[in-house]
Amino acid sequence: MSTNQTLQVRVARKAVEAQDIVTLELVATDGKALPAFSAGSHVDVSLPNGLTRQYSLCNDPQETHRYQIGVLRDAASRGGSTAVHDAVQEGDVLTISAPRNHFALAHDAKKHLLLAGGIGVTPILCMAERLAITGADFQMHYATRAPERTAFRGRIAASAFADRVHFHYDSGEAVQKLDLGALLQQPEAGTHLYVCGPRGFMDAVLGTARAQGWPEAQLHYEFFGAEVAKSDSDAGFEIKLASSGRIIMVSKDQTVTQALAAAGVEVMVSCEQGVCGTCLTRVLEGVPDHKDSYLMPDEQAANDQFTPCCSRAKTPRLVLDL
Ligand code: FES
Repeated sequence: MSTNQTLQVRVARKAVEAQDIVTLELVATDGKALPAFSAGSHVDVSLPNGLTRQYSLCNDPQETHRYQIGVLRDAASRGGSTAVHDAVQEGDVLTISAPRNHFALAHDAKKHLLLAGGIGVTPILCMAERLAITGADFQMHYATRAPERTAFRGRIAASAFADRVHFHYDSGEAVQKLDLGALLQQPEAGTHLYVCGPRGFMDAVLGTARAQGWPEAQLHYEFFGAEVAKSDSDAGFEIKLASSGRIIMVSKDQTVTQALAAAGVEVMVSCEQGVCGTCLTRVLEGVPDHKDSYLMPDEQAANDQFTPCCSRAKTPRLVLDL
């Protein structure tokens, strides 16, 4: 399947799933089966306001008649979640990409530990559905602010794997809160950890796991609507295009892709948040200041590629393979 394949889908159902969370059920406009997907997959959705956003599929991967996505209204939205909540209606036709998976289950794992924070439950729930069907050994922990903000509570309670899901509410008693130190204290060979949620949750889970000695190969994660960390020390720098030798200045307040576009050099972008990898560009000289959540730590450390939609430079100049 080409990763550039696009699909026309109709919003067959839009429903309020929890406070500030809606689900969309998408079906093919031609009524045919949709391309198959694996647990952890996402689609790029082109929204009516021109933005493209990535949303994880949260239905059972055995289904081919629909894709389901869940979207949180994000108070800090740059237009993506607001468009889904306010502008997309049942019956609308949307263009989406075919499903892609950067967050796949490790099929050789002996045991799976699934951790969801807030709306990060979408790919995690899909994984749980899949693991339950295959009879795999898994446990899921789902942390949210409060029960009324917890998407899919009813679906989980009615599922065959309800007894393997532990809910943790910020608003609840201390005793039921997620104790990461205890949960992750002993990495076991063959146990894989999967985490999806807001940045603070991800940082806490991954930071605890790494501090407790979990090997990187057993950690799987997907950042969700990541905020790109801006820093007061962000400064201007220059980009040199390897093909022509042309120099383009990136000001303090511009992204590299904005500076390139202003100079007539287009780099394909999608999320513009360092999440999807669409803009990934090779770095031939200089040291990038990585701000993405797409590259693995060892890939970032190699400093031979970066995401120009959000990452910057630690050196006065980057030479790019453009
Ligand atoms: Fe998605 Fe840059 S456009 S990582």
